[in-house]
Amino acid sequence: MPTRKTHAGSVGTKSGRRSSLTVHDNRTGRDYEIPIERGAVRALDLRRAKASDADFGLLSYDPSFQNTAACKSGITFIDGEAGILRYRGYPIEELAGRKSYLEVSYLLIYGHLPGRSELANWLHNITYHTMVHENVKKFMDGFHHDAHPMGMVVSTLAALSTFYPEAKQVGDREIRQRQIYRLVGKIPTIAAFAYRHSLGMAYIYPDNELSYTANFLAMMYRPSWTARYDSDPVLSKALDTMFVLHADHEQNCSTSTMRTVGSARSDPYVSSAAAAAALYGPLHGGANEQVVQMLQEIGTKDNVPKLIRQVKAGKRRLMGFGHRVYKSYDPRAKIIKEAADSVFSTTGKNRLIDVALALEKVALSDDYFIKRRLYPNVDFYSGMVYQAMGFPTDIFPVLFAIPRMSGWLAHWQEMLLDEEQKIIRPRQIYTGSRERHVPDQET
Ligand code: ACO
Repeated sequence: MPTRKTHAGSVGTKSGRRSSLTVHDNRTGRDYEIPIERGAVRALDLRRAKASDADFGLLSYDPSFQNTAACKSGITFIDGEAGILRYRGYPIEELAGRKSYLEVSYLLIYGHLPGRSELANWLHNITYHTMVHENVKKFMDGFHHDAHPMGMVVSTLAALSTFYPEAKQVGDREIRQRQIYRLVGKIPTIAAFAYRHSLGMAYIYPDNELSYTANFLAMMYRPSWTARYDSDPVLSKALDTMFVLHADHEQNCSTSTMRTVGSARSDPYVSSAAAAAALYGPLHGGANEQVVQMLQEIGTKDNVPKLIRQVKAGKRRLMGFGHRVYKSYDPRAKIIKEAADSVFSTTGKNRLIDVALALEKVALSDDYFIKRRLYPNVDFYSGMVYQAMGFPTDIFPVLFAIPRMSGWLAHWQEMLLDEEQKIIRPRQIYTGSRERHVPDQET
């Protein structure tokens, strides 16, 4: 029986055991030794297994990338089994509440917490890039009065590409840096303008004297006839914590989109517009909006069992539950539950919280959810906090997009600097017709 080994000699471990996988191909009787590096095999190594010389080689089939690492990344670590989330090594529990969103944003993008002068510089650059070109306002004016704010944000991010043509030079470090300032600085302005547009209210320009979240709240809520808006510090702090929790989550759908579009060397404006479009979906960043709608529909604790029955019958999903990676409690949901108390102490309790707590209690003790390891995710409680803060439900996905911009940009830059990365181009298994021919035209 012929035996062919690949990569022999590079697969030893300290214990003397080989860090490799031996694959036996029953079609040919050949064995292949495939190195295991950091718990993964390289899919390209499978290509060596061929049924015949003319064969293309074995592909791995992984619809929706359930078990495929598309990159190496040093940004965010998640252990979904243990409910652990770390940004650049720091546990999310230590960052939330102790570091501001802009410090965390810096951490994600540059890899370390900023020192004093680095932070001052970063804050200055973000603050002085919050303004948008007057034509951006005109562009946004063109939307229908009841346009969904997330649709407006997606489109306006893409439109920024036309204002900053230099952004196409993604290989230039300084130019990249400027677009990072612009995107982190401008996304709250665009988000607030989208909200004001939906109410037919005058846009409020950024106030450089305010913090990132206090400025955002002022642009959202300041009456146009007053010169200043001082948001409740409890609320701007709570929003800042929410932003920290939402800043990154490794290779989620929108971040993978940012990497995919960016891999074609598209500029960061259109790439982040595509990422925001992915975030808009109800199975991703749109879920918080759906959670509140679902809780409103349930109305009272008494109706919880009926909803659970519908979910178990497969008629609907319990929004805000379940996660591709977390198979235990989402650590962000735990922190939000605590942050909710500080918000409710200022705003009064959101009456939906009782329904949510009852729903969580029933679900966590029900076999259907236990068997499938479905726990509350970040979106289960975030919507209620946002609602208590006075945000309308359709702005919720936008509140997710603002901080996730940091994660998108951190991954975009990491992808561009990673020499192993090429344009993203998955393979497929073709299941269509064999070659066939257009029939001669009937006369
Ligand atoms: N309610 C009821 N059943 C669910 C739910 C849910 N929320 N989530 C998963 N399931 C069930 C599925 O029906 C399936 O059951 P089956 O094996 O009997 O067919 C099983 O659990 C596995 O579900 P999948 O869809 O295969 O899980 P996947 O990892 O693909 O989906 C997702 C993850 C999309 C988050 C899913 O759990 C879901 O739709 N949740 C509700 C939407 C939501 O809250 N999204 C926010 C995610 S967090 C974020 O993006 C920030």
